[in-house]
Amino acid sequence: MSTPDEIAAAAAVLREGGLVAFPTETVYGLGADARNPVAVERLYAVKGRPAWHPVIVHLGDASQLHTYGVDVPDWANALAATFWPGPLTLIVHRAPGVVCDAATGGLNTVGLRVPYQPVALELLRAFGGGVAAPSANRFGRVSPTSADDVRHDLGADVDVILDGGPCMVGVESTIVDCTSGRARVLRLGGITVAELTHALGEAPEVVQRDASEGDAIEGVRAPGTIASHYAPRAEVVLVNADAIVVRAQALLEAGVAVGVLTMGDVALTDVPAALEVLDQPATVAEYAQVLYQRLRDADRRELGVLLVVAPEDEGLGAAVVDRLRRAAADA
Ligand code: TXA
Ligand code: MG
Repeated sequence: MSTPDEIAAAAAVLREGGLVAFPTETVYGLGADARNPVAVERLYAVKGRPAWHPVIVHLGDASQLHTYGVDVPDWANALAATFWPGPLTLIVHRAPGVVCDAATGGLNTVGLRVPYQPVALELLRAFGGGVAAPSANRFGRVSPTSADDVRHDLGADVDVILDGGPCMVGVESTIVDCTSGRARVLRLGGITVAELTHALGEAPEVVQRDASEGDAIEGVRAPGTIASHYAPRAEVVLVNADAIVVRAQALLEAGVAVGVLTMGDVALTDVPAALEVLDQPATVAEYAQVLYQRLRDADRRELGVLLVVAPEDEGLGAAVVDRLRRAAADA
């Protein structure tokens, strides 16, 4: 766990234009001073991310919404008041001069979020300004949910890696576009659609395009949609629980190393001895929390195929299902 001194030193590194990986409640982020174009360009280079793709600007205090955003509708203010600090990103029209063009991919909008993870908040408050931070993984790969994951993925390319232990939510923030007159969910995540509906007094439009890094969002200059994302090297195959044994048997006979990921309430009986059963989450919240660790486990065990039984497609489970579909999609 990083100490207050280490966090203060990391804020100074940000001020000097360095790159700081830091924990949030969702996933670890790779941060740079959002006003510094040289730092943000280095951030994009380390991630291997196309320059047109905007990053989320992280803030230490919800009141900064009005420094960084303009023409923020009342209902978006209400979302910030309800869910910040927390796993919600709001896309708003951006105020002039507060972040460099590189951070928003040249768009006139900006994605803002105040995380609740204590190390993140301390870093952001010590730094004072906006910190541009995508997830601290290479483009298209599984997001990191521990400091070790970041060290493994980005290692020496980062100036500082702060450690806040494992991420509590485990999937990225929910992204809500607040620039079109009504709330549009661009990425499912840590705040559920039901929670948003409750705060808004009406259901948001769920555009369900995500997302992260490679995908096209309306208004973002993207060449096309890339469904495949959050992908481990192992092939992810979504199956029904009753198909696990047959599918596993066939793959094992073909010489493929096979694992299975399901919730703990799925009874695994008569499974072949060679089938690697990954640790089973007991609840949907735990499924979200450990999802990226299990995808990484598949690679650590050098599996060829990971059979996955998805949770129910509702509440936080909807974000898990979304990530699993992307992990399973062909590139
Ligand atoms: O939970 C999270 O959101 C994590 C942690 C580190 O905060 N961050 C994260 O960042 O997932 P990233 O870069 O992997 O995904 C950011 C998403 C991308 O899909 C990007 O297109 C969208 O946010 N985004 C950012 N600014 C935007 C804007 N102005 N308009 C539309 N989409 C935007
Ligand atoms: Mg990402």
